[in-house]
Amino acid sequence: MRLGSKSDTKTTGFPVLDGQELTDKDGFKATLLLRKHMNVLHAVIRPTPGQDREHSSRERVLHQKVAAREALHEAASRQGIHFPSLDRDEHGAPLPVRGRYWSITHTAEYVAGAAAVWPLGIDIERLRTPSAEVIAEAASPGEIDMVRKLFEVCEVEAFTRIWSAKEALLKLSGEGLAGLSKCTIGSTNLTDTRPGLWIRHDRMEHFVHQMLRDDHIASVTCDQVQQVQWDWHGHLVGARGTR
Ligand SMILES: CC(C)(COP(=O)(O)OP(=O)(O)OC[C@H]1O[C@@H](n2cnc3c(N)ncnc32)[C@H](O)[C@@H]1OP(=O)(O)O)[C@@H](O)C(=O)NCCC(=O)NCCS
Repeated sequence: MRLGSKSDTKTTGFPVLDGQELTDKDGFKATLLLRKHMNVLHAVIRPTPGQDREHSSRERVLHQKVAAREALHEAASRQGIHFPSLDRDEHGAPLPVRGRYWSITHTAEYVAGAAAVWPLGIDIERLRTPSAEVIAEAASPGEIDMVRKLFEVCEVEAFTRIWSAKEALLKLSGEGLAGLSKCTIGSTNLTDTRPGLWIRHDRMEHFVHQMLRDDHIASVTCDQVQQVQWDWHGHLVGARGTR
């Protein structure tokens, strides 16, 4: 079964609010409203501050982490979600807060965050040619060729799309890069006009929504969400097109 398809979302229960599923008429209406609200996922992407060479590398990473969390809070508030604190497990993976999930990503150029009442993953990657070892670990020649043809793009963009999509999915699953070998490109459905890739993982297929901007690929995945609302503030200089 493909997660994220319309038929799949039909079987998804209503969100549980503060540990209690609402059952009375008003509660039912409120739940429907919240569910409608939640069916669009807001992904907030911002330029990363404090990345000048005058800052130490430790300071630069700290700025990335803080800015990613600010982007996350902005995205969360658009979903009607508030996180009083953001805790992680012993491996650094985000812990859900009362049934609300969060995911962040940070690079020297951009930070991003998204939140939902379902597990999700977000990633952002700059278009680049990695080493042959990294390519071999992350994508097969067949996968790169398939994505190159699907998007009519060069190998570098095809690889970055695959890499970013798999990272986003491995954040959703919580495995991180340890699960990389479990991910392959799923079936390419030409009738699916949404920009993104299907990734197969543990015999399930998940749709990863993607956007290209300013030489970066952003990827976000959440099985119960059909649509992503990208809020991407770019760098003003040298920004390229959007797809
Ligand atoms: C999770 C992982 C895919 C992140 O990718 P990345 O490109 O390095 O970093 P990103 O900026 O995209 O994402 C970082 C965020 O992912 C989140 N994250 C970390 N581990 C995660 C996991 N297992 N599942 C979901 N999210 C995770 C964290 O919130 C982290 O930000 P923070 O440290 O500021 O809290 C990758 O680092 C990983 O697999 N880490 C697991 C630990 C590991 O294998 N370390 C290497 C040992 S040699």
